[in-house]
Amino acid sequence: MTTFDFSEQTILVTGAAGGIGQTIAKHVVDSGGRVALLDVDAEGVAKAAGFLGVNALGLAGDLCDAAAIDDLVEQAWAWNGQLDGLVNCAGVFPNTSIMGLEASEWDQVLDTNLRAPFLMTKAVARRLIEAQTGGAVVNISSSAATLARPGVAHYGASKAGVQQLTRNLAIELAPHGIRVNAVAPGLIATDKVMTKAAGSGKAEHQAKVARIPMQREGRPEEIAGMVLVMLSPLASYCTGSVLLADGGFTLGIPSY
Ligand SMILES: NC(=O)c1ccc[n+]([C@@H]2O[C@H](COP(=O)([O-])OP(=O)(O)OC[C@H]3O[C@@H](n4cnc5c(N)ncnc54)[C@H](O)[C@@H]3O)[C@@H](O)[C@H]2O)c1
Repeated sequence: MTTFDFSEQTILVTGAAGGIGQTIAKHVVDSGGRVALLDVDAEGVAKAAGFLGVNALGLAGDLCDAAAIDDLVEQAWAWNGQLDGLVNCAGVFPNTSIMGLEASEWDQVLDTNLRAPFLMTKAVARRLIEAQTGGAVVNISSSAATLARPGVAHYGASKAGVQQLTRNLAIELAPHGIRVNAVAPGLIATDKVMTKAAGSGKAEHQAKVARIPMQREGRPEEIAGMVLVMLSPLASYCTGSVLLADGGFTLGIPSY
């Protein structure tokens, strides 16, 4: 897909060793841009960046380590002396019922999925404000932000938080020409999701697909496409929005 023109642009993508993040990174490069891939999985991110070639930089780092974030952003910025966009895609989604959920797991999910996007956006925005260039941020939320189900109290809370964080950041950063939007995927057929669906998670997966009005999982490139739209000038008047990309999953009850 090369519909967009990201030439002369550098985009930083977190969680870029993972299924959706890696696809977003590939779409940026396929559209002529440069991409800094950041992930805690050092081997995975090096492999993903190597696959994308000279227009990709792999950065290994743990976004739960608040003290490390500014340095990681500095490395991404120093690569080309600029950043034009940030995609906060890194996330964890363990499934644990509320009575077995420990505070440590709650903190890990909230730190990764909600605190890190705040800290990353702040670190990138500070540089964009100094450079007076403007820019775009896209946060990856989830259908779990609005659709409650067993085992994801921490995940749902983190992703609902991401949506309100998006709106608050959008208001504060608009005067600086920085747009902040979110994309909320439903069930996406990454390798990880489909491996689970073929094994222990088969019944749960089938139950989810059955209640998706479009009757199928989304593809990672269908999320990447939405993210590129939100990063691009096509969305130049769009800030604070949460775009559903879930095949209608969160609309309501699809049939009786
Ligand atoms: N796959 C889906 O069905 C789905 C649906 C809705 C939302 N999402 C969201 O999309 C995003 C990407 O999900 P995915 O399916 O690609 O998952 P994934 O597990 O394949 O990728 C997530 C990546 O984030 C990285 N990561 C986790 N913790 C990190 C940390 N502390 N620091 C740096 N990197 C860290 C992981 O190493 C991994 O590479 C997540 O935010 C997820 O919540 C996914």
